[in-house]
Formats: sequence, C-alpha cells, structure tokens
Amino acid sequence: MNDNAPSSAASRRDFLRIAGQAGAAATAFGAMAMPRSVHAAGSDTLRVGLVGCGGRGAGAVIDALSADKNAQLVAIGDTFADRAQAALEQFKGAKQVADRVVVSPDHVFSGFDAYKNVIDNVDVVLLATPPHFRPEHLRYAVEKGKHSFVEKPIAVDVPGVQHVMETCRLAKEKNLAVVSGLCWRYDLGVRETMRQILEEKAIGDVIAIESSYNANGLWHRGDDPSWSRMEYQIRNWLYFTWLSGDHILEQAVHSLDKTAWLLGDIQPLKAMALGGRQQRVDPKYGNIYDHFAVFYEYPDGRHVYFTCRQQDNCSVRVDERVLGTAGQAEILKHELTDRGGKRTWRYKGDKPSMYQQEHDELFASIRKGEPINNGHYMCNSTMIGLLGRAAGYTGQTVTWDQLQQSTERLGPSQYAWGEAPDLSVAIPGKTTLQVG
Ligand SMILES: NC(=O)c1ccc[n+]([C@@H]2O[C@H](COP(=O)([O-])OP(=O)(O)OC[C@H]3O[C@@H](n4cnc5c(N)ncnc54)[C@H](O)[C@@H]3O)[C@@H](O)[C@H]2O)c1
Repeated sequence: MNDNAPSSAASRRDFLRIAGQAGAAATAFGAMAMPRSVHAAGSDTLRVGLVGCGGRGAGAVIDALSADKNAQLVAIGDTFADRAQAALEQFKGAKQVADRVVVSPDHVFSGFDAYKNVIDNVDVVLLATPPHFRPEHLRYAVEKGKHSFVEKPIAVDVPGVQHVMETCRLAKEKNLAVVSGLCWRYDLGVRETMRQILEEKAIGDVIAIESSYNANGLWHRGDDPSWSRMEYQIRNWLYFTWLSGDHILEQAVHSLDKTAWLLGDIQPLKAMALGGRQQRVDPKYGNIYDHFAVFYEYPDGRHVYFTCRQQDNCSVRVDERVLGTAGQAEILKHELTDRGGKRTWRYKGDKPSMYQQEHDELFASIRKGEPINNGHYMCNSTMIGLLGRAAGYTGQTVTWDQLQQSTERLGPSQYAWGEAPDLSVAIPGKTTLQVG
C-alpha cells in the first residue's frame, strides 16, 4: 500500500454508484413495506427494548423512559442471562421510571439471538452491545420496522460500515428513526460552539484541528475457569479488535466525530499514523493498541492532528483545539479566543445531559412523524476511525479509497460458545490491509 491510490475520482464514483444502488434497493423495499409511523403525534404506548444490558444500555433505558411519558420498557436481552437479570433489577429500582418497567420474565432474553426476541416485541430498540454486533442488529430492527437508538461506533470493519449505510437508507425509506450514540452532537454547548464556528465564522475559516482522546485505561472483568474462550472475549470485549474495533473506534470515535463535524462531514483523503501497545502488553488485554497518533489530510489540504491513548498515570486530555484564520476554539470548553489568546466568546446557555437530550429528540421525532436519521455522520465518523486504525496497524499511508476496498470482516461468521477467534497484534510494517 502506498500513496498511489487507484484513481481517486474513479473509486469515489464507485462509492457513489454503490450508494446509489443501495438507495434504489431501499426505495423498492420501502415502497413495498412501510406505512407512515404509527406513533406519529399519538399518545399511545411506545414499547421500548434493550439489547446489551451493560453500563451504557442501562443509562439509555433510563433516558428513553424519561424522554417519553408513554414509553414502557417491555423486553431486554443480553448474551448473558446474569447481565440481563442484573440490569432488570437495576431498572426496577430506578425510582423515576420503575413504574414503566413492565418486563415479564418471558421477555428477558439471553444468547446470541436475544436481539431478535427483543426487537420482535418492541417499537423502539436501544442497541448497546459491543459494536461488532451492531450491523446485524440494526438491520434486523429496520427490517422489522422498528425505530433504533444505536450506540457508537456502528461497526468494527469496512463491510460492517457499508452494511449499516445501506440499512440507514432503508430506515429513511421506511420512515424509521436511527439516532446515534455519538452524543456530543446532542450537547447544547457543543452545538452552539459549532454554530459559532461553522455558521457565524467566529474564528474565520477553519485551517486545522488538534484533536485528542487521551485518557486512562478502562475496566477488565477478569477470567473464570468455567468460561469458554468465546465467553471470556465477549465479557472482556473492549480488548479484542473484532469486538470493539480497538479504542480508536470504541472510545475515540467521539473525538473523530467532532472533527468530522467541524470539517463538514466529508471524507478525508488519507491518513498516516503511529500506534502500538506499551502498557497493555499482557495477553489478557487481547490484541488492541493502547495509543495512536494519526495525521488526517482532507482534499482541500486541511489537516486533523489526532492522538488517543488509554494508559494509566499519564496526562489526560480530551478536546478539540480548532485553529481558524481569525482565532481558535476549544470545543468541549465551549470557548473561542482571538489569535492573541484573548477570550472572545463562551457558551453560557443551558447544559442538560446530552444523553437525555438525544433520547428527548429521538422520541419527539417519532411522535412528530419525522424520525431522525443520523446515518450519514455515524457511518462517516466510524469510517474515519477505521482509516486511522488501518494506517496505525499497517504503518502505511492509507487513502480513503483504498480503505473502501477493504473486504476484511472481523470475527467469526457464526457465533457459538467454545473457541474464540485467534488473536494477533498488528505490527506496523508487516500487517497489511486486506482488499478485495
Ligand atoms: N456514547 C457514550 O458515551 C458511550 C459510553 C459508554 C459506552 N458506549 C458504547 O456502548 C456500547 C456498550 O458499552 P458498555 O460500556 O455498556 O459495555 P458493557 O460491557 O457494560 O455492556 C455491553 C453488554 O452487551 C452484552 N453483549 C455482548 N454481546 C452481545 C450480543 N451479541 N447480544 C446481546 N448482548 C451482548 C454484554 O454481555 C454486556 O452486558 C459500546 O459500543 C460502547 O462503545 C457509549
């Protein structure tokens, strides 16, 4: 792989052609299948279900039930029965929503197919498993005519993102909501800061962005002699690229999403990256890296200088510093300065929980009959994370067009308890991008 991409214009045309075909398929599919949203403007009950009963899923349930007074939690599912049961007890104890937790014992599902049982029984599904499973789960939800809240990232490989892109087109045709868990898009302070930059041009034209998600390590759930290797990996999914996508996607996609937003949600031309693992070298940490530094270049010459790290006892910094022709911005500080560093603007408005806000807007959009579809940016930002990962894993400059050709689907083709996928840690200079 090198900088000599196949004709950029040609492969971009291919990308659009594939997108167009999928859109046509969606039109045919949608025309045949779907009435307008049956919940539009109504006060009827919206049945909510959760797939993936972990920390984020639990938060999403509370937010969803808080968002709509006629929403009820009716079904939950997890690969592991113990996780589903523990989550149910938690919901029943959550005072603000407990009266609308109406999950009967036969609607608590477990196993790899739990998602189908949940989706079959609800109007709105909250998808909060490890990202590997997202493309399949979202497709099933849309095929069944269900609205979705979709945690980030939306896939762990290029075929997965392409599958979700097509699913989002189907959702649009069927008038179904697909709201992304890229929650900073729903933060009122970030939104206004972005508006100042993008619409008011308060720092002039954006020239470059320094973006970082440099944080500490996360949880590890240990091992148990009774667990198969597949169970071990899924319980500790963060550390396996096939399940999480690596931390550049699983966590740092939040930062990449803000940079994408700042640059108009277009596609970068290429990326060059460094990456590796220094603290997390023990096999219990699977095969993900613990740091990346990526230089993204856009077609108009603008750059994103991006770093992400999950290492303990190191400096923590999570924010975007935006360099403009007339000043600078720090996005999460909601602050603008002039070129001399003097503050020129700061957000002073309301700061409700962005997690609550995304559910408020999701449910309001369903009720209004104008469901939100965040498909474009959630796919684009996940792909930007994949570009950085590919550049880091291979040590090569990888173009967007080369990445589009990647056929590598991570993980097993069928899921069963027992053996787990083989793990190798990517080695820059040796690992190659698999293309079709
Ligand atoms: N938007 C945010 O700020 C934010 C914050 C945290 C996590 N997340 C995202 O939410 C998702 C879940 O993260 P989490 O922290 O809740 O993890 P978690 O491990 O606490 O929960 C995930 C749950 O999914 C279950 N699961 C695994 N495979 C499954 C399958 N095939 N079917 C059904 N259930 C399955 C696991 O057993 C676990 O209970 C991830 O994609 C993560 O990136 C987003």
